[in-house]
Amino acid sequence: MPTLTGKAIIITGAAQGIGAVLAAALATEGALVAVSDVRDCSEVVDRITLAGGQAIGIGADVSDDAACSALAKKTFDAYGSVDGLVTNAAIFSSLERKSFDRITVPEWDQVMAVNVRGVFNCVQAVVPYMKERGYGKIVNVCSTTVFAGAAGLLHYVTSKGAVLAFTRALAREVGEFGIRVNAFAPGLTMSEGVRANEARVAPQAKAAPQLRALKREQIPEDLVGTLLFLVSPESDFMTGQTLVVDGGHIMR
Ligand SMILES: NC(=O)c1ccc[n+]([C@@H]2O[C@H](COP(=O)([O-])OP(=O)(O)OC[C@H]3O[C@@H](n4cnc5c(N)ncnc54)[C@H](O)[C@@H]3O)[C@@H](O)[C@H]2O)c1
Repeated sequence: MPTLTGKAIIITGAAQGIGAVLAAALATEGALVAVSDVRDCSEVVDRITLAGGQAIGIGADVSDDAACSALAKKTFDAYGSVDGLVTNAAIFSSLERKSFDRITVPEWDQVMAVNVRGVFNCVQAVVPYMKERGYGKIVNVCSTTVFAGAAGLLHYVTSKGAVLAFTRALAREVGEFGIRVNAFAPGLTMSEGVRANEARVAPQAKAAPQLRALKREQIPEDLVGTLLFLVSPESDFMTGQTLVVDGGHIMR
């Protein structure tokens, strides 16, 4: 029995990689999915609809607040509600690993604009629709680099630390409206983007399985169960939490 039948859920950064796999999983559970990205989402939408699921593609750059408002409105106009938001879009796999003193101010600002302000923009856009219904599920995508303190990505790790803090603080503000805000933190995951930039992450990709209790590569499908739990009513008494999903590397 699908668990998300009729729930309208927006997922950002879903034209490829982890987001594309999660979008398909949401549709399999009966969700009405709004697949969003700065890139063309039609391949993901076609794959979902061919498999019998419901999806629409909506282009949006999450660093643009007007685009995020339009994303929420288009979703509402198409599906009649906005029940869930998964803030998956981020600048990650394309980032060159470099020491903190080689990161330029424009690079720092770009990562923050997408990975932090992008989450803020999307949340501001969807919360009015959720408030109206007295219910909503927001799931942010964090990273285990926050707990491990990964070197060579100071802007990225800082941005994901902000996502964790954002999750906690927002949960306190919107709980009274029935809106739950949680996050999950993946370990290094062999997404399309990571595989396309394999040379950059080769040392970490090689080391990661050995650091885990479960000694293998992490793939986007490993995140599906946690996401479905966090968007479903099964997690309705949970908010402000960040779940680590990394095969047992980080234990807190
Ligand atoms: N792959 C990993 O090892 C890993 C580990 C921990 C956390 N994460 C997080 O998981 C999420 C997905 O990771 P991935 O590996 O699939 O990344 P990816 O780089 O392969 O995909 C990210 C997607 O976000 C989109 N995007 C980038 N800028 C955007 C913008 N301004 N507006 C809208 N969309 C934008 C890209 O077009 C792309 O489709 C990210 O939040 C990432 O930080 C990834």
